[in-house]
Amino acid sequence: MPKFPTTRLRRLRQHPRVRDLVRETRLSPHDFVLPLFIRHGQNERIPIGSMPGNFQLTVDHLAAEAREIAGLGIPAVILFGIPEHKDAVGSDAYSEQGIVQQGVDAIKQAAPDLLVMTDVCFCEFTDHGHCGIVNDRHGSPDVDNDATLEILVKEAVSHARAGADLIAPSGMMDGMIQALRTGLDGEGFEHIPIMSYAAKYSSAFYGPFRDAAESAPQFGDRRTYQMDPANGAEALREVALDLEEGADILMVKPALSYLDVIYRVKQAHPEVPLAAYNVSGEFAMVKAAAANGWIDEQRVALELLLSIRRAGADMILTYHAKDACRWLAGD
Ligand code: PBG
Repeated sequence: MPKFPTTRLRRLRQHPRVRDLVRETRLSPHDFVLPLFIRHGQNERIPIGSMPGNFQLTVDHLAAEAREIAGLGIPAVILFGIPEHKDAVGSDAYSEQGIVQQGVDAIKQAAPDLLVMTDVCFCEFTDHGHCGIVNDRHGSPDVDNDATLEILVKEAVSHARAGADLIAPSGMMDGMIQALRTGLDGEGFEHIPIMSYAAKYSSAFYGPFRDAAESAPQFGDRRTYQMDPANGAEALREVALDLEEGADILMVKPALSYLDVIYRVKQAHPEVPLAAYNVSGEFAMVKAAAANGWIDEQRVALELLLSIRRAGADMILTYHAKDACRWLAGD
């Protein structure tokens, strides 16, 4: 037995410069995508109670908002819409004058370099709050997969026409990526990437978002299309199919209770860009604990974001994006 430890891992922890040199994972503003909620109406900026610092914004507020976001160094936003009228098929979602289409246009005009992604789904646009066309062909009300694919294509094409740079389908329909890729290519949008919410779980962590987007299902839940939180291997099947169908970027959602899934997806497909969605409930928990003085918000939020990157995500959709950029800049 040597008298002293031969290897002392503490040596590399002594000097802050050495710690910097050996750091394996870093956070930077380039990692972040900020979700934005765009609502109908005029001159309104309505705070979202369960998501402090986030607002439902009317289109006239978007130019200033987009310039602020770009100024912070955040490269991209993802848009969600709250339309004036909801109906059974969510027709605002694919209307030329739809709320998201107007939002895309306003942001691209104000901040052309800010990447605009759009969430492609129906739950915010249907009066029943489900992610597609509901019928009871199989005996009880459920989302009709193949009928929904047709309107998803209309929605994605109309987003691309409005100027969206990338589309992000979140509806968890089978065959969705194939249908969207074919539909976009057929309209001349073969250059628009698809970021697939490939492994999206049926999660209670979406609660605050559903208030923010006014999109809670009016009956039932989303378990016939979103994944069972108990399943990890199934995520690899979802991901493999989406890649075959032409997805350019994969996503795991939520992030924090699914770090193992992020890790497995990255290990299985190290060559494919991977996003993770740090969802509303994850954000709200940090905010609530910080407001009570129970945790240090800055340190906890940065540690959580780092953990998502360390697990294997290349980019993070997060409501912490603005604060994180300020913290990383040392303000
Ligand atoms: C569906 C969608 C949802 C979220 C993003 N896209 C909600 C859902 O499936 O009910 C949730 C995001 C979050 O909780 O932050 N369009």
